Amino acid sequence: MLAVAAQNHRITTIEGIDQVPSGSALQKAFIDHDGFQCGFCTPGQICSAVGMLDEAKHGWPSAASADLAEPHDVVLDDEEVRERLSGNICRCGAYVNIVAAVRSAADEGAASEESS
Ligand code: FES
Repeated sequence: MLAVAAQNHRITTIEGIDQVPSGSALQKAFIDHDGFQCGFCTPGQICSAVGMLDEAKHGWPSAASADLAEPHDVVLDDEEVRERLSGNICRCGAYVNIVAAVRSAADEGAASEESS
């Protein structure tokens, strides 16, 4: 997204992500699952994961979803998590741990902690 497209919208960066309930859960899960990458990728992955958990909570489909037409209960399996985080391009190798971290946070209810 271009910065101008976010004009007049609230923006939460990694510095404020601990104020978002799923942000704290995801930071802990990234530590627990050794999901860290470099200083550019890790903030992006965590911020993207906060967004994707909220989208999943609201039933938004992804390209990996079987039914794109109707809101549905999203099952955050590995394929769904990978697709929903696929906008983060990194050549390094921690993806398995990132998927595990996001699934762990989701399993612990991080997606249901967001406000509607
Ligand atoms: S961890 Fe950032 S480019 Fe690979």
